[in-house]
Amino acid sequence: MKKVLVLNGSPKAVSDTMVLTRAFLQGLNGEGAYEIDVVDVIKKQIKPCLGCFKCWQNGDGKCIQQDDQNAILEQYAAADLIIYSFPLYCYAMPSHLKAVLDRTIPLMQIKMVEVDGIVQHVPLVDFSGKRTIVISGCGFPDWEDNYNGLRIMCNNSFGHPTMVFVSEAPLLNAPEADAVTGPLVEAFIQAGIEYREKDCLSEGTVNWLETPMIPKEAYMEMINGIT
Ligand SMILES: Cc1cc2nc3c(=O)[nH]c(=O)nc-3n(C[C@H](O)[C@H](O)[C@H](O)COP(=O)(O)O)c2cc1C
Repeated sequence: MKKVLVLNGSPKAVSDTMVLTRAFLQGLNGEGAYEIDVVDVIKKQIKPCLGCFKCWQNGDGKCIQQDDQNAILEQYAAADLIIYSFPLYCYAMPSHLKAVLDRTIPLMQIKMVEVDGIVQHVPLVDFSGKRTIVISGCGFPDWEDNYNGLRIMCNNSFGHPTMVFVSEAPLLNAPEADAVTGPLVEAFIQAGIEYREKDCLSEGTVNWLETPMIPKEAYMEMINGIT
C-alpha cells in the first residue's frame, strides 16, 4: 500500500485549507489504495533547528533534539507522497511547519549536486520515487505577488512539486458561500482522482483549482463589510 503523509500546518481546529486537502484525499483514495497519515503539526512539539549539523556528522537520519520531529522524519522517509497543507502566513508557510521543514535536513547529506537547475544536497534516503504536493489557502483575493515567494521556496525545497494555491480560502468555512465553494470542493475531489491515475495534475486542472471563487472586488467588498 502506498503511504501518504499529510503535514497539516493550519493551527486552527477548523482549517479552510484542510477542506480542500480532505476533498483531494477523498478523490485520491477512492479505491482505498493509500494509507494516509495526517499530522496536525501544531499539536506536536517541534523545536526550531539548532543549526548544529550534528545530524550530518552522525549520518543516521535523526535530529539530536528529543522532541516529535524524529517520528515525523521516519514517516517522511517512508512516505511515497508528502502533502504539505497550510495557510499562507506573511507570504510563506506558518513558522511551526517551517520548523518541520528545516528539520528535515537529517534526511540529507552535506554533499551537493545540481538537478534541473536547483543546487541541492544529496538525500540520505531514496527520494527518487517520492512526490510532493503543496496545497495552500490564503485570505487575500487573487493577486500574483501574494504567492510568488512561496512558489520559489517550494520549487527549490521540493524540486518542482505539484502546487495549488487557493485565494479567498475563508469562504470555505462560510456556510452562506456553499454555492461557490461546493464546485471548488468537487473539483478537488476530481483532482485527487486525476492524481491517483496520472501521478500529476494537468496545468488546466491547477488553473481551475486556483480560479477565484468570486471576483476580487466582490470579495474585498464582502470582507470590508464585516469590519
Ligand atoms: C499570521 C497570519 C498571516 C497571514 N498572512 C497572509 C498572507 O500573507 N496572505 C494572505 O493572503 N493571507 C494571509 N493570512 C490569512 C490566512 O492565510 C487565511 O485566513 C487562511 O484561509 C487560513 O487558512 P486555514 O483555515 O487553513 O488556517 C494570514 C493569516 C494569519 C493568521
